[in-house]
Amino acid sequence: MSEALPTCLLNDEFVASDAARISPFDRGFLFGDGVYEVIPCYDGHPLRLAAHMARLAASLAAIGLKNPHSETKWAQLIATLIEKNGGGNLGVYLEITRGAQTGRDFSPPTDTAPTVFGFAWSLAPPEPRKLEQGVRGATLEDIRWLRCDVKAVSLLAAVLLRHEAEARGADEAVLVRDGFLTEGASSAVFAVKAGAIATPPADRQRLPSITRKVVGDAIDALGLSLKERNMQASELANMDEVWIASATREVLALTRLDGKPIGTGAPGPLWHKVHAQFQALKQSECSA
Ligand code: PDD
Repeated sequence: MSEALPTCLLNDEFVASDAARISPFDRGFLFGDGVYEVIPCYDGHPLRLAAHMARLAASLAAIGLKNPHSETKWAQLIATLIEKNGGGNLGVYLEITRGAQTGRDFSPPTDTAPTVFGFAWSLAPPEPRKLEQGVRGATLEDIRWLRCDVKAVSLLAAVLLRHEAEARGADEAVLVRDGFLTEGASSAVFAVKAGAIATPPADRQRLPSITRKVVGDAIDALGLSLKERNMQASELANMDEVWIASATREVLALTRLDGKPIGTGAPGPLWHKVHAQFQALKQSECSA
């Protein structure tokens, strides 16, 4: 649970998180008509802020919503949110919706002011058990829409998929569409076979994960290579290693899938190297 820290951002103002209020007519509430970002911050510094801002701009453009702020203004708002909540290691959530009307209309209005909301929470590192033993996945049919490249707030499918994965004793849903791996319900996926590291290509079926890029850079820095290719879901069971990556979970080894071990059933040697390099990148990019 990402428990909100005391101060949040609501439409240009910093207010107490427990006192922040929006209209029930907000289109984010009525239609899920909005987009969001999740930015990990270490030692008070956002990791890959420019990439998160570019993805936010792309999500807004995809839903025809004007970006309410310049990149510089966003950077200032995020810095203030971090500072007002004590800095350190935080997750920052930003949401922009098409705003509130006085009723309900599918047709998107052009004259409403967008609602801008941001909050922060303490970003704990993954639990030692998850680092030592890895996490468990359940393969499920990808029931989401066909614009998964947009970081839309309408996350009902992802919520139901996570719920189903947890009901099956897993930590993450590994999604499959037409027999091919798309991504995790809230993570990018990597797979390793005989030393070759692969991840599915970035297209409309999956979110352009920023952590996936950091993992790619860690792979590069180690002198290894990463190939983008579509993978059949049936290949996953025979992989030596599978990893999931996201802003909040960094990079974790997925050591069981549908109750069966992947590889040895323990985090593999390449995960260990990439995870260590990821930590080094994170520290060098986010040091004061
Ligand atoms: N979700 N794919 C999906 C569907 C996701 O929801 C996420 C992250 C990712 C990984 O993207 P990134 O590396 O930029 O975090 C991939 C975030 C963490 C969330 O919704 O909370």
